[in-house]
Amino acid sequence: MSSYPTESKAWFLKRHIRTGMPKPEDFEIRPLPLTSQGDLKENDFVVKVQYFSIDPYYRGRMTGVVTYIDPFSLDAPIGGAGAGEVVYSKNADFPVGASVSGFFMFQEYVVGNNNRGIKIVPGKVGGAEIPLTKSLGILGTNGFTAYFGLHFVSKIQKGMTCVISGAAGGVGSAAVQLCKAAGCTVIGIAGGTTKCDYVVDTLKADAVVNYKQVDRNDEKYVAKLTVLLKEAIATAQAANGESKEAKTPGKADFFFENVGGPVSEAVYNVLGTFAQVSVCGLISQYNLEGGPQPMQMNSNAFLVRMLTNRWRIQGFVVSDFTPQQYGEAFTALATAYSKGELEAAENVVVGFEHTITAFLDLFTGANLGKQLLQVNAKL
Ligand SMILES: NC(=O)c1ccc[n+]([C@@H]2O[C@H](COP(=O)([O-])OP(=O)(O)OC[C@H]3O[C@@H](n4cnc5c(N)ncnc54)[C@H](OP(=O)(O)O)[C@@H]3O)[C@@H](O)[C@H]2O)c1
Repeated sequence: MSSYPTESKAWFLKRHIRTGMPKPEDFEIRPLPLTSQGDLKENDFVVKVQYFSIDPYYRGRMTGVVTYIDPFSLDAPIGGAGAGEVVYSKNADFPVGASVSGFFMFQEYVVGNNNRGIKIVPGKVGGAEIPLTKSLGILGTNGFTAYFGLHFVSKIQKGMTCVISGAAGGVGSAAVQLCKAAGCTVIGIAGGTTKCDYVVDTLKADAVVNYKQVDRNDEKYVAKLTVLLKEAIATAQAANGESKEAKTPGKADFFFENVGGPVSEAVYNVLGTFAQVSVCGLISQYNLEGGPQPMQMNSNAFLVRMLTNRWRIQGFVVSDFTPQQYGEAFTALATAYSKGELEAAENVVVGFEHTITAFLDLFTGANLGKQLLQVNAKL
């Protein structure tokens, strides 16, 4: 390390934002003093953070409301997982040059010891090189979330027809591929032709629906999306020769929910009896003025449909799972990745000062695959 850093830039939230789209002026960069070299204790080490994981759940932490996790304080750096390199160390387990990941928040430098869930990131798995960024995406939260939603929250089985929204994003793209690997027929939903082509051509979904193909202001929006979904399911089932065998021909057995809102209402219109739903995220609702909007169908009518169709709908959070379940998921994901069986596109925005733009881009769909911020142009 050339010279020991005396301070670290960090991103702070200036006010809690209950509802509506955050604005760049709601955030600011402040300098934070770093523990001086002489004051480092035994087992301390300094991480130069190279990548920030840019995740939709930060939005919930900006509201000031306690949910399954505390809101961001206005007096501490915001952010979440990151990855970087140890540049100074008094800890033999974290030597200088080691690649690490942990909850570093949006900061350039972090002093670590046994805090922040810091782990060494293996450079190789099964003989294959693993870029550091994958520890934040396909071999990190994105991959785990997809795996848990498919195998532990719901239980997908070979031959099922599965619908996955947000299919070209970090979690969705992992879910599409894991679903295909499990022998399911997969219909992705994504916004725009580039993303839809990616879902079919690269991720190998059997069919895709571009939800932006229908005008959002059309009063028959949900009905028109429902027609597109029905067509996609019929095409996909026929292509897989399953239209006769499927428990619910023309309908879906499983829904991996990433988006919510009217897209989700259309999917509920094509769910068959005994369908399972893993509610992973509802990104379309995170920034609406006044908070989440009611469904077109009233909630009791929805519950009647849930009852008569015997749907099993479960929300989940990636942190709900045991070390054993994480271990199983990591082995499955790393094995598939090292064999070249998992595509993991990344959208890397470069420059610490662009962190908030990279975050807001999640809500306009600017990212294809995992959204990341590379802290400095030169690593
Ligand atoms: N439960 C958990 O533990 C957990 C963990 C991680 C993530 N999640 C959730 O999983 C979902 C995906 O997260 P991710 O990190 O993989 O993000 P991502 O899918 O990589 O990025 C967000 C995507 O959401 C779509 N989107 C944004 N606004 C939308 C809207 N109004 N309507 C429809 N689609 C919209 C955009 O794709 P299009 O261009 O296709 O619209 C955008 O690219 C989010 O809901 C997130 O909160 C949950």
